[in-house]
Amino acid sequence: MAKLEQQVENTTTVRVELAERSYDIVIGEGLLAGAGPYLTPILARQRVVIVSDETVAGLHLAALQASLNKAGIDNDAVIIPPGEGSKNFAQLQSLLDRLIELRVERRDTVLALGGGVIGDLAGFAAAILRRGIDFIQLPTTLLSQVDSSVGGKTAINAAQGKNLIGAFYQPRLVLADVAALASLPARELRAGYGEVVKYGLINDFAFFEWLEKNGADLLAGSTDALRHAVAVSCRSKAAIVARDEREHGDRALLNLGHTFAHALEAEAGYDGRVLHGEAVSVGLNMAFTLSRRLDLCPSQDSERVRRHLSAMGLPTEAGQLGLDGLTAEIMLAHMRQDKKVADGQLTFVLARGIGRSFITKDVDEGTVREMLQDALQPAKAG
Ligand code: GLY
Repeated sequence: MAKLEQQVENTTTVRVELAERSYDIVIGEGLLAGAGPYLTPILARQRVVIVSDETVAGLHLAALQASLNKAGIDNDAVIIPPGEGSKNFAQLQSLLDRLIELRVERRDTVLALGGGVIGDLAGFAAAILRRGIDFIQLPTTLLSQVDSSVGGKTAINAAQGKNLIGAFYQPRLVLADVAALASLPARELRAGYGEVVKYGLINDFAFFEWLEKNGADLLAGSTDALRHAVAVSCRSKAAIVARDEREHGDRALLNLGHTFAHALEAEAGYDGRVLHGEAVSVGLNMAFTLSRRLDLCPSQDSERVRRHLSAMGLPTEAGQLGLDGLTAEIMLAHMRQDKKVADGQLTFVLARGIGRSFITKDVDEGTVREMLQDALQPAKAG
């Protein structure tokens, strides 16, 4: 079982228990500028290549490199363009070329410094370079600290859909520096909050209540609130990943709202108009609306979810995402491309209430279509 291990000098450590592939997630302030001592004992050879994007490198690369130099860790950096558009074959190839040119050896380590795009791309490159070299996640966005840096999903996008080409490949360590979140644009921090709310909705009603009380402070940048929310989210994810690393069962709970969200993102075309966390927020509302329509979930719960997301400034309706002309049929067509489709059947994560989510294939497509038709009405009218 994953468990919260210790509090050391204002850091919290969550262990992801995966036998010989177990690792720590360390959460605290100043972990980028203080990375060296955390890395030294983990590295097979004191040599790393940092992979980052232009934006994040401008903010954090110098501090990280200073810490590595101080610890005697030989380092290079490869910088790629920011944005979801970099999660493609061309960037993967150029990253692999650079790593090979830098003579990266089997015992060297890739450090992924950035948000979800960097973690997914650098992690996948590490998974296939020389049949697998170590990698460490240094997530700098809320979304990557609470979700994508933990659990070993790495991937690039295909023209047909998001994350269709990738590997399960666990990092050796995750350092989540909550101080890095201070430099995030407000919209990105808010979008990451969509993934935080997800953990309350899956199986932690008390955490959802805590978010109702403290969400505004968190979004205002309270370090204590951020540290607590990242720790609770990582603990929750670590426990799920520990029991189902490769998503044969329970891990699909982490996809609450995501089948809808991925369809919305596919429709937007990954051009930055819709952030992943914004699509997740709309998707969470859709999952609870569908659950209510199926008489699974009381309407006060689905309304409470919508109210909280909306109070935090997140979109809850597809119409707020500016996807003109989106119809229920288009949404369903995108949803059928989802990785969760098995034997042509969609898997849904639904809820019997807040904190009571479950996985099912047994959902009448007609009800889904009706829910989508109603949900997309305002978008068509507007
Ligand atoms: N982001 C969902 C998962 O890691 O399984």
